[in-house]
Amino acid sequence: MFKENSEAQSFISTPAMKREAIKTATAAALIPPHPTFQALRKIAANCKACDLWKTGTQTVFGEGSPHARIMFVGEQPGDREDLAGRPFVGPAGKLLDQALAQVGIDRANVYVTNVVKHFKWVPDERGKRRIHKKPRYSEINACRPWLDAELGVVKPQVLVCLGATAAQALLGKDFSVTRRRGELVESGLAPYVIATVHPSSILRAGDHESRRLQMESFVEDLRKIVPLLKKSRKAA
Ligand code: URA
Repeated sequence: MFKENSEAQSFISTPAMKREAIKTATAAALIPPHPTFQALRKIAANCKACDLWKTGTQTVFGEGSPHARIMFVGEQPGDREDLAGRPFVGPAGKLLDQALAQVGIDRANVYVTNVVKHFKWVPDERGKRRIHKKPRYSEINACRPWLDAELGVVKPQVLVCLGATAAQALLGKDFSVTRRRGELVESGLAPYVIATVHPSSILRAGDHESRRLQMESFVEDLRKIVPLLKKSRKAA
């Protein structure tokens, strides 16, 4: 187990490990055998398993209590997250915080992460703004070992996929969030797994009323988590 940061550092500095990470094009070779959260975070900071490290400012690793009972998984950090080095701190994150507050869940008690840990973007036509670009399968696949390691450390009781990228990466490529949002999904990843929309889809709503309605549905999906937590506490 990597208890010290220096141990984690020596793990990634092995040239054979670096070569292996490049050869397999996933982060798998970078994951220590019995990782701690701190070790994962430290090693992930140097991840070059796909090319997104070249244009992203930094790795945006998951954040929250490693003992959290709820884990939220989004797609990838956005512009603000890329600069801050923290997930869900931009406009979509604020919306998530509001929805959590409405159902009585404290953000401090949850773990929040993304399927891809670097911001993928293209410049807008004037070259002034960075526009989010959906990650490719190869990038999701390259990053997947980090997410699996986070799941292994946190061992959430409730796993919530935010949006199609997270849901399809974790629950299968044919999973439809539109059809199955808010449903309990059979999965070995956690005792209770649900998927809902990504909060950024609410931000894209065309007018005030549709945004209000979409937010209401999002809150209703998140409300379903609360009894699951109670159930899992009883079972423990
Ligand atoms: N969107 C995501 O999927 N994740 C973030 O961290 C921010 C926006």
